[in-house]
Amino acid sequence: MKTLIELNQFYLENPLPINIQEIIKENIGIDLTTHYADFSLKNPILVAPGQLTVNSSQIQKIYKAGYSGCVLKSVVGESENSQCSMTGLRKKEDFIKTFYEKEDKEGEYPIIHWNGRLDTRNLNEYMQFIKEVNNLNLSNFAIIGSFVCHLPKYEEDFNEKEWLYTLKKFDDAGYKILEIDFCPYLRQDNYWSTKEDILRWYRKIPEIIKTYFPKIKIYPKIININFGMDFQIEMAKETIKGGSDGLVIGNRIYKEEYNSGHGGEELRLTNLQQIKKIKELFPDIEISATGGIYSGKHVLEYLKAGAANVQLLSYIMGKVKKPFIKKGNKFEQVFYKILFDIKDGLIPCMLKDGYNNIKEVGLS
Ligand SMILES: Cc1cc2nc3c(=O)[nH]c(=O)nc-3n(C[C@H](O)[C@H](O)[C@H](O)COP(=O)(O)O)c2cc1C
Repeated sequence: MKTLIELNQFYLENPLPINIQEIIKENIGIDLTTHYADFSLKNPILVAPGQLTVNSSQIQKIYKAGYSGCVLKSVVGESENSQCSMTGLRKKEDFIKTFYEKEDKEGEYPIIHWNGRLDTRNLNEYMQFIKEVNNLNLSNFAIIGSFVCHLPKYEEDFNEKEWLYTLKKFDDAGYKILEIDFCPYLRQDNYWSTKEDILRWYRKIPEIIKTYFPKIKIYPKIININFGMDFQIEMAKETIKGGSDGLVIGNRIYKEEYNSGHGGEELRLTNLQQIKKIKELFPDIEISATGGIYSGKHVLEYLKAGAANVQLLSYIMGKVKKPFIKKGNKFEQVFYKILFDIKDGLIPCMLKDGYNNIKEVGLS
């Protein structure tokens, strides 16, 4: 049997094996397993959809580093005749940079600012990428799809053909858990005229999907808008009413001054508040949390609020000025720190709070 300190030291020098959860369970007695829909996750940490999940070599690295899964970069769907009403969301970025809040003197908490949107590839090209990912044959690793199709204004009908054709493509490729990306730029790009438009999307999209693909699990990503907390809860209510299986909370906050979505602590605190409120109202709804995670302590906060798992991006993608003590690629450095950091790591924090497994965290 090894102690936490011994494991911490050993894996500082050596790569983490992909079955690290078993070693932690045997030696420390902590069970990290949880789930995303009906997929059993070996630990609660996934990589969020974005620029780190656009090619198969990244997915391979995420798997090797020890994460339990990832959500692929969101695609803009099409109908059979390649019609795509949301092509505006295939915009390539003009800029991409790492931002630090004033208080973050040492550059430890990077926030990505950029003005790109969803995947720039068409559906055919994207499905080729999915094929390459599937060919990796990664076991015990959740790969979740993400997409969006036509989002109408209130007076328009939904272009169901786009939704159903894209869903069929995912379904045929074996993807049974899908997120719907309500991207922060929908606000800036004037995709809606009233609050009713947004609530209708959240309600109708799962309704359409469940009518034709009842077995696919749907997780809409809640957009963070400045209409107040009550409206955040309204979106969740509507989409649960529409038949969504869970929620992703939540997407970044669009800020005009940065011409970008913004994350960091502000996003994390907003999301934590939302998750707690939604779990009070709907204790059985499953939540995948994302936003502003830079430590195992942050992961534990989300789990305590009621999330079943978490997704992170900026911490891995952004430049962290303070050097990591572990050698290896960034996926490995972040995963090691999140799990083992003596002060803020998930395992030390769980031990301190007396938790033996992830499931009991959510129940406390
Ligand atoms: C460069 C970039 C690209 C992103 N692309 C997507 C996307 O395609 N689909 C999506 O649902 N979210 C996307 N996101 C949001 C992330 O998945 C994540 O939810 C968000 O950044 C909050 O997590 P973080 O604070 O760890 O970055 C993107 C974020 C960034 C910074």
